[in-house]
Amino acid sequence: MKAFKSCIRLVSVLKRCRQYSTVEVPLTAEYYNVKRGNYATVTADDVTVFRDIVGSNILTEPDDVEPYNVDWMRNLRGQSSVVVKPKTTGQVSQILKHCSERNLAVVTQGGNTGLVGGSTPVFDEVVIALSSMNRVLSVDELSGILVCEAGCILESLSSMVMDKGFVMPLDLAAKGSCQIGGNAATNAGGIRLMRYGSLHGNILGMNVVLANGTILDLLSTMRKDNTGYDLKQLFIGSEGTLGIITELSILLPPKPKAENVAFMSCESFDKVQQICARSKAMIGEVLSALEFMDWQSVDLVTKHTELRNPLERSPFYVLIETAGSNNRHDEEKLNDFLEAAFNEGLIKDGLVATDLTKVNAVWGLRERLVEAQLKEGVVYKYDISLPLANFYEIVEMMRERVKHLALCTMGYGHIGDGNLHLNVVGDSHSLELLGLIEPFLFDWTAKHRGSISPEHGLGFKKSKYIYHSKSKEAVTLMEDIKKLFDPKGILNPYKTLPYTD
Ligand code: FAD
Ligand code: MLT
Ligand code: ZN
Repeated sequence: MKAFKSCIRLVSVLKRCRQYSTVEVPLTAEYYNVKRGNYATVTADDVTVFRDIVGSNILTEPDDVEPYNVDWMRNLRGQSSVVVKPKTTGQVSQILKHCSERNLAVVTQGGNTGLVGGSTPVFDEVVIALSSMNRVLSVDELSGILVCEAGCILESLSSMVMDKGFVMPLDLAAKGSCQIGGNAATNAGGIRLMRYGSLHGNILGMNVVLANGTILDLLSTMRKDNTGYDLKQLFIGSEGTLGIITELSILLPPKPKAENVAFMSCESFDKVQQICARSKAMIGEVLSALEFMDWQSVDLVTKHTELRNPLERSPFYVLIETAGSNNRHDEEKLNDFLEAAFNEGLIKDGLVATDLTKVNAVWGLRERLVEAQLKEGVVYKYDISLPLANFYEIVEMMRERVKHLALCTMGYGHIGDGNLHLNVVGDSHSLELLGLIEPFLFDWTAKHRGSISPEHGLGFKKSKYIYHSKSKEAVTLMEDIKKLFDPKGILNPYKTLPYTD
């Protein structure tokens, strides 16, 4: 085994240009054969009303609107003709009041990094983009509480709070583009969930605008508040279907003083599972990320980026990060764990990165997977949670099932949280390939009592499969809640809940 040494990991501030294969993106409505809901169509008078509200912060030129119509993974294309960019909660309220009175459907868009088609229009919905609402309103350095607008980019917030001795309670590879409001609306998980828990615990309050323009002030900054139902929880993970989040208060964990990253290879998935269990038992109190990748994933990243695999080819790789308050203590614990795992034959080869460049290179292998997939071809992206015992079996089954149509099939993910990302890459948008994956994968996941979406949400792509993870009674109650908050169904139609023609 190569020498294990320790290092300080600083936050990666990599910003990547989006590059992708040149395959045309099909129109969502046509490709998925969706019938348009009974909504009004945007007229010149509507555009005048929007202009009166937001001034010049509106886009109507097709070339300007185009990026808002196409999703990050280039699977979906909407047909909107107008993007409105409010600057205040009041403006959001006026826009929604008008849309509600006119029966105009809307889609809220943050950084448009969502992976299930929640953020792009299906037909001609009005796009309400939050990017101009990007002010930090306050940072309480005594209590560690941030209050900011929903359009703040996650990475900007991370850098800002880090200078004050805190970190954001979430981190994900889309941080350079995703917005905190979008993170809340999708209840984003990411690589630090195992350490800091989900946004349901870290968001203390929010301001939300309801479909009819009502402003709901839930912007508490208290950690504890048991006065009635905790309404903000309903908006976390609601994917823009219940209201538009405009401001949030968030609990900030203190910035760890010491961070270490280890990258190791394993010969079997059984050994990967044992590494997970052993690391939780031996270094659980400082563990901040526990990720795994198969060799197909690592191969694809090295094929499409300048990054190189620092270890020999092996079926599986595990990335472990620790974050604590005493580097010597953390380093010692990590080294003890690595030594034990190596002696027990769980690890084939490994390294602890020794400088920031190497740390970023190791994290890059994991964080630049989406970029590599987009360069390879058309991505069929899945996100499921499973008991660890069944975790990798489905990747092998899927690889076999689609091998005659797919370019590659890979598995990676937040193994510390039981969250697998299964991805198939093909050379085109193929309904035949899609039909081989779905609903087979969802049936299999439901059979093992997993979730068909532990992270990315249901959005447009998975809404009809909600019954695979929720009972009929639960979905009926969700539909009732939707009707209460949005009686005309103008907020993000065709998303999250199953839609009927
Ligand atoms: P968008 O994509 O713009 O919107 C997502 C959904 O939220 C849509 O339904 C939209 O209507 C709604 N929405 C957006 N803003 C608001 C608002 N202010 N009020 C109400 N509704 C709103 N996700 C994870 O969970 N974990 C990961 O590790 C992860 N890694 C990723 C890595 C890459 C490279 C990429 C491209 C994506 C990744 N994602 C991950 C998915 C995505 O980044 C998250 O879902 C993110 O939280 C979306 O934020 P956004 O601002 O881009 O929202
Ligand atoms: C990740 O963990 O990298 C994201 O959830 C994106 C993906 O599923 O590829
Ligand atoms: Zn993920």
